[in-house]
Amino acid sequence: MNLAPISVTKTTQPLKKPDANNLGFGQYFTDHMFVAKYSDAKGWYDSQILPYGPLALDPAASVLHYGQALFEGMKAFRQGNGDVALFRMDYNWNRMCQGAERLCMVAPPKELFLEGIRKLVEIDKDWIPENKGSALYIRPTLIGNEGFLGVRPSREYMFFVILSPVGAYYKSGLSPVNIWVEEDFTRACPGGLGATKAAANYASSLKAAYEAKKKDYSQVLWLDTTRTYVEEVGTMNVFFVFKNEIVTPSLEGTILAGGTRDSVIQVLKSWGKPIVERKIKLSEIREGAQSGNLVEAFGTGTAAVITPMGELAAKDWKVKINNGQMGELTTKLYQELTDIQYGFKADNLNWIEKLK
Ligand code: COI
Repeated sequence: MNLAPISVTKTTQPLKKPDANNLGFGQYFTDHMFVAKYSDAKGWYDSQILPYGPLALDPAASVLHYGQALFEGMKAFRQGNGDVALFRMDYNWNRMCQGAERLCMVAPPKELFLEGIRKLVEIDKDWIPENKGSALYIRPTLIGNEGFLGVRPSREYMFFVILSPVGAYYKSGLSPVNIWVEEDFTRACPGGLGATKAAANYASSLKAAYEAKKKDYSQVLWLDTTRTYVEEVGTMNVFFVFKNEIVTPSLEGTILAGGTRDSVIQVLKSWGKPIVERKIKLSEIREGAQSGNLVEAFGTGTAAVITPMGELAAKDWKVKINNGQMGELTTKLYQELTDIQYGFKADNLNWIEKLK
């Protein structure tokens, strides 16, 4: 597909860069953003890089009323030798397309998605933090922006990308997080949006996370609607390491197919480890933690990378995992993945695209 060239308007007032040792997550944004528009009549048009700033939206835009919004989370890394590495961009584009299909939206063509991100990262590459554990978080977002109040799919879309230099997602960094087992609120239901990166999934998660924080838990363990099976943890996919088996919930429509989840599965397979995607009962986890058969548990996500879980608590029980410590396999996986991302290990699985 031949796309019109991306026009570039650079800022005349570059922002001061934040302290690289104190980035937190999603608090700072770079100087520029990428924006492209779509209408049924014109197709994709007007793709441009411009100074970061407010978007003009019709107050009747479908995203504001009926929630037609999807996003992705990706990262660019500054490698040891100074190269800039973009990680698994194809994976994210594919997932945006699948989500767009479910939400009756029009996804940007692959070249537009990739070129928009490449060019934006290139222009703002001085914002990529250098220390391991920090990265430039990339947030591609697709919204319905036709001004119309009938309930039907929008006929106009906006695709935009913003960039944020980030450190660790959780304040605790790589230390194990304590998790509340959520038995009242549901993240996703069969036939719903759980498998997509719809903004709506995050809206529905806020109350549970807020209540858990009040009890001093960092996040919640999401269960299925029958409260029998484990699905995700906070904004992450979840893995459990038993003595004889490593498990993660199988993708059956309510679980997001995370890129880090997929990367971890591939790394485990390459190590010959017994990784199984299947339904996992909450009772297995509880009993495993009590008997010592469950040795480690961790969440995976682009933002949080690999985050160990130290404790699980429900209304009437509580278990520690690995004595509340980060386990050996969790540490090894974190090391492997970040070594590939930061260029300290060969990218044998072809996940990295270097910025030219
Ligand atoms: C990600 O890991 O990229 C996420 O989407 C999590 C989040 C910050 C919403």
